[in-house]
Amino acid sequence: MTIKEVMEECKLLYLAWTETTSILLTWTMIVLSMHPEWQDRAREEVISLFGKNKLEYEGVNRLKTVTTILYEVLRLYSPAGGFIRKTYKEMKIGDITYPVGVLIELPVFQMNHDPHIWGSDVHEFKPERFANGISKASKYPGAFLPFSWGPRICISQQFAMLEGKMALCMILQCFEFELASSYTHAVDNSRVMRPTHGAQINLTAI
Ligand code: HEM
Repeated sequence: MTIKEVMEECKLLYLAWTETTSILLTWTMIVLSMHPEWQDRAREEVISLFGKNKLEYEGVNRLKTVTTILYEVLRLYSPAGGFIRKTYKEMKIGDITYPVGVLIELPVFQMNHDPHIWGSDVHEFKPERFANGISKASKYPGAFLPFSWGPRICISQQFAMLEGKMALCMILQCFEFELASSYTHAVDNSRVMRPTHGAQINLTAI
């Protein structure tokens, strides 16, 4: 690789790791504040596996409720709301032929909120839709793309899920949380999907 390519990779890595898992965790705390019954269920699972002790890898791999919660948050508030590809040669997709240089966007946010893909309860927070795995959660097995797909898929998806699970477990072990009265729910999807007015959350040590 040239020095310029190495520099571009470094910039990409910096952008890709800073505002992704942190945003997933932020939305997860918002959603679990809105659904305290799921916060309780997740905490019960964490305490039954680890108590208040340090997490260990085997136990993290056995987390079911926590995993389905993170998937459902990734569906409702996917940090990457869409991604773009550019045709490098003339190509045909379906009945349409695209010339070189056309930008094509895969609208992940819209797909994640499409009732034809997820059913009439598409806007509800229902982690149980992932109880039998990602491929059975929707009508189309390949429709869930929070980490993209193909050669440019997120190189870090396993790591991101692992750090997301571990951070959420540690928060649940130490705190109960609820939304502050100043919180206003709004989604900013201009770059990465974040809460427009921030996430004001009250934590109580347990
Ligand atoms: C919940 C957390 C994360 C989500 C939802 C996520 C999502 C994505 C998506 C959708 C892409 C593909 C973008 C495209 O196709 O244009 C991507 C690429 C990438 N991600 Fe992640 N990501 C996450 C965490 C991370 C972390 C923690 C790192 C680094 C430690 C990382 C590193 C990368 C890199 C380097 C790429 C570019 C891969 C390539 O172009 O070959 N991601 N990510």
